[in-house]
Amino acid sequence: MLKQLKQKALQEITEAKDLKKLEKIYRQYLGRKGELTQVLRSLKDLPEQERKEKGKLANQVKKEIEEAIKDRRKKLSVKGGQDKKWIDVTAPGVLPSKGHFHPITLVQREIEEIFQSMGFSVVDGPEVETEYYNFDALNIPKDHPARDVWDTFWLEDLDLLLRTHTSPVQARYMEKNDPPLRIIAPGRCFRHEATDASHEAQFHQVEGLMIGKNISMADFKGIIEEFFKRFFGPDVKMRLRPGYFPFVEPGFEIDIKRKGKDWLEIMGAGMVHPNVSKAVGYSPAGGWQGFAFGVGLDRMAMIKYKIDDIRLFYSGDLRFLKQF
Ligand code: PHE
Repeated sequence: MLKQLKQKALQEITEAKDLKKLEKIYRQYLGRKGELTQVLRSLKDLPEQERKEKGKLANQVKKEIEEAIKDRRKKLSVKGGQDKKWIDVTAPGVLPSKGHFHPITLVQREIEEIFQSMGFSVVDGPEVETEYYNFDALNIPKDHPARDVWDTFWLEDLDLLLRTHTSPVQARYMEKNDPPLRIIAPGRCFRHEATDASHEAQFHQVEGLMIGKNISMADFKGIIEEFFKRFFGPDVKMRLRPGYFPFVEPGFEIDIKRKGKDWLEIMGAGMVHPNVSKAVGYSPAGGWQGFAFGVGLDRMAMIKYKIDDIRLFYSGDLRFLKQF
């Protein structure tokens, strides 16, 4: 009888699929009213000899059952230890989360690609600039009223500032490289001004510069029109208005217009001023001339992605960023 009880118990233990079932088996045999408990309890009514023999056997069975339950419990507690846990090999996998580029980076890359395809190289310049490259070399001497146009972040006690535009890269590049040349220089700029939906203290520009023997505003118009068409689509229109920048002469503001939309100012440009060529060491007898432009990168991105507040770019808000 004890032997049968043991066999039954051990079988049930091996078949127990989870811990709950296992505890139930424990109670069934070893609980207060458990089958084995009852056997043990009934021993006291037996004659001495029989009590000794049966007692020994019953205690052994108890030990074995306890041992088996302990083992099984260990196995079931391990994750995945449950029997018959099927793996569905047809279930779709869990994709690892992937990062992606910031919209400003996306637009910058697209602009770079368009200009590279037209023979321009992409160059870089420092965000912390000297007064010389940000102003003086660009025909904006100390007391020139045009300095007021750029609300500058000056670095205390140093002759340094955060560049207010990417134009200093023009001067730096021309100083080191002989014409003919074709470059763009995308990068971050800073202006000390109140922020609103269309103004930020930090923003991005792409500077452009092309110098050659007979480069004229006609070349500029052709190249920039091609650029806008490739970026915004073939329907985009552009117009040039006279504009003033000390480092170009003549200077222009460039507006674009898309179907059903108003004209929008997006770029400054003009023919490189002789004083700039002189500052970078180009000989006036060389006959080199060319155009420069500076386009607002954030504004291009805002139009492209229909973003109505420039501050979103720098907010770090994931709800915004995840859309790109
Ligand atoms: N640097 C000018 C600005 O920030 C833009 C510009 C660049 C204009 C090159 C003319 C030529 O407003």
